[in-house]
Amino acid sequence: MSDEPRRGASGPSRRAGSLRASGIRRILQRAATMPDAVNLTIGQPDFAVPENVQRAAVDAIQSGRNGYSPNAGDPHLLDRIRQDLARDLGWSFGDPDGPGVLATTGTSGALTLAYLALLDPGDECIIPDPYFVSYPELATMCGASAVLCDTGEDGEMTAERVEPLITSRTRFVLFNTPANPNGVVASKRTCADLLDLCRSRGVVLLSDEIYDAFAFPESRTDACAGDPAIRRCPSPARLPGAEDTVLLIRGFGKTFGCTGWRLGYAAGPGWLVEAMVKFHQYTFVCAPTPLQHGAAACFDADMDPVVLEYQKRRDMIVERLGGLTHIAPPGGAFYAWVKVPEHLGMTGEQFTELAAGHGVLVVNGGVFSSKDTHFRISYATDPAKLAQGLDTLVGLMSQRAAV
Ligand SMILES: Cc1ncc(COP(=O)(O)O)c(C=O)c1O
Repeated sequence: MSDEPRRGASGPSRRAGSLRASGIRRILQRAATMPDAVNLTIGQPDFAVPENVQRAAVDAIQSGRNGYSPNAGDPHLLDRIRQDLARDLGWSFGDPDGPGVLATTGTSGALTLAYLALLDPGDECIIPDPYFVSYPELATMCGASAVLCDTGEDGEMTAERVEPLITSRTRFVLFNTPANPNGVVASKRTCADLLDLCRSRGVVLLSDEIYDAFAFPESRTDACAGDPAIRRCPSPARLPGAEDTVLLIRGFGKTFGCTGWRLGYAAGPGWLVEAMVKFHQYTFVCAPTPLQHGAAACFDADMDPVVLEYQKRRDMIVERLGGLTHIAPPGGAFYAWVKVPEHLGMTGEQFTELAAGHGVLVVNGGVFSSKDTHFRISYATDPAKLAQGLDTLVGLMSQRAAV
């Protein structure tokens, strides 16, 4: 028997102890106690799942497609994903040494499997600051560390900002466009430089593009490889030869209003996708089968009317708050990253508390960043409520400014 001090036999692992409690969960608990508040916290779309997508899922359930699918995903969904990626990115899937595709349990499932497949204890990955809340904690779960890349006032994770952070322990750089929490859409130059850097240093570039369909028209500056009439926001995955270096992660939940279906996918280097499938086999087993059939129908749905509606809300935020403080230009997703005006002398948390006291819930920046200087607004909410919330925020920012 070892003399090592034992943790309680019935207690959680040391790994569990090293995870931080999610700041978002705390805010959601608070929101539950304030049902009349204007809630600008939740990154959850407020539109209905397209009818053809609902029908495809219901048909799959009713026709008995309720068992396991292959670990990598239902063949029909994988075909639809490959077709879409071939048209969008110009990737070719015929060759056995070419890129692989895997349907996952949410985009979170794809991220989890990628971290597991790439990180050994002691390794490092580079993530943006501000970041989506899971990015650092997933590294901790692997016994690795996430190195934060400050993305500056413009919110772009440029090669220039990433390069000094690369060490011999770096296994991947995690890129997110359009980004949560700031809605920033990376430029084509940023994508190209970052891909060149990762390629030259032999590290994988993970590109989390869960909000790729939520890019406003001014951010759609890139022509699809297979159909130049279709314009999308820039992606490192669309650059020539990217499939050797980029693991692309996209999802269905945010784009098609079905976050609870838990569906996403990953596509990229065959060796990496193969390693992810191994972890998939012993953890999630497969993404929910009938909902994979629903997801396949997503490729026939047109979400542009919703995106244009969200653009109006984005414009409303920038118009109302832009003159009072700095907002990194949100070109997509449904978030705005608002700096607490310096003259208030408050942290993000203090301002968030003040706003909550006036019936408006936002998320303090410290939940997404090593600094607590901002707050995040989610505008996936009713426009009238959003307008009401903005009135309060403008009042708080201006009133205090005059004191
Ligand atoms: C940037 C980013 N990546 C991944 C996820 C996880 O999404 P999913 O619900 O598909 O697991 C989110 C969810 O908010 C996100 O904002």
